[in-house]
Amino acid sequence: MVKLTPPMGWNTWNTFANNIDEKLILEAADAMVNEGLLEAGYEYLVMDDCWALHERDENGRLVPDPEKFPHGMKYLADYIHSKGLKFGMYSCAGTMTCGGYPSSFEHEFIDAQTFAEWEIDFLKYDYCYKPKTVDGPTLYRRMGMALANTGRDILFNSCSWGVDSTEEWVRSTGASQWRSTQDIFDTWKSIKDIHSQQIRLQPYNSLGCYNDMDMLVVGMNGKGHVGLAGCTYNEYKTHFSLWAMLNSPLVIGCDIRNMDEETKSILLNKDIIAINQDKGGRQPFLAGGTPWIIQEQDHYIWVKQLEGGDLAIGYFNLCDTPIRMSLNMHDIGLGHITGKTLALTELWTKETEVVKNDVLMKEVSAHDCLVYRAKLING
Ligand code: GLA
Repeated sequence: MVKLTPPMGWNTWNTFANNIDEKLILEAADAMVNEGLLEAGYEYLVMDDCWALHERDENGRLVPDPEKFPHGMKYLADYIHSKGLKFGMYSCAGTMTCGGYPSSFEHEFIDAQTFAEWEIDFLKYDYCYKPKTVDGPTLYRRMGMALANTGRDILFNSCSWGVDSTEEWVRSTGASQWRSTQDIFDTWKSIKDIHSQQIRLQPYNSLGCYNDMDMLVVGMNGKGHVGLAGCTYNEYKTHFSLWAMLNSPLVIGCDIRNMDEETKSILLNKDIIAINQDKGGRQPFLAGGTPWIIQEQDHYIWVKQLEGGDLAIGYFNLCDTPIRMSLNMHDIGLGHITGKTLALTELWTKETEVVKNDVLMKEVSAHDCLVYRAKLING
């Protein structure tokens, strides 16, 4: 199945890891609807690792742990679908999942069929315990074929963490997204590290198969499985804006049953989500040769052309001090000679302005961002 915009949803892993059960999934489904997440576009409820028994049944099929999931997976799928949501499931290309549960290696076709019978809509496919005898592309292509032959539309999420040059072969597997990083943690350093790894991978980030920067840590506030130091409001806002600008799937990882108002104000910012979900699916680019890599120059202006002619322009200051950042209109193909300039709306404050004299200079606080939607007007 091809999906033209980055998938959006919620995943159990960041907060709950192996501590998952039926009650959690049902409550999460309710929260996705009641908190307005589904309405904002978050439609996939994804159950990550640690849902199965350690042994397959006598027919070689995966078995949901009956203590955690007494009514099985079809029951969950029915409930999730009754809420208007889609159900995501997890397996792995190696001999065991990362959590040590049975994996789909050499069971790809029977597992895909089982998932289809349970009426799942999405499969996250991990890369732990990869056998030495088969390469990554073959493993992912095999599961891609297995899913495509179930007769059910199942979105395929390749989670090989960007290793083994995933970017070069992942589109041949049928995947709609590919993990382009190792796992995220709830720290500012992790957010920055993931972002810097993405810069060279933008040529591979395009319509129908997006670079997956891993699940969001917005709202974790240091709690849960990958919760460590936690981040500030500005850091979560910058994290969300970066993931949105860079076309990453937006998959929430906090406990959505207990979100505070700040968390909701970030995750439900419809204008930022619209930048991520833009139908054009175009690659973002760095404007103006802004220097990167050197720590004190760790600031970036990302730009993306949107359907209908608007631009998204994001000023991201990842440094520890306020920075003055300038975008020269010539660097995005505009400027005096074209007779055009930009009318801007900042998508967090909703403030508006017009660019004068071909330069948009802004002071951006430490770890903060400004994200604009810009319309071309006569200058
Ligand atoms: C890997 C993945 C994570 C999560 C765990 C589950 O680490 O990258 O996103 O799925 O496995 O064990």
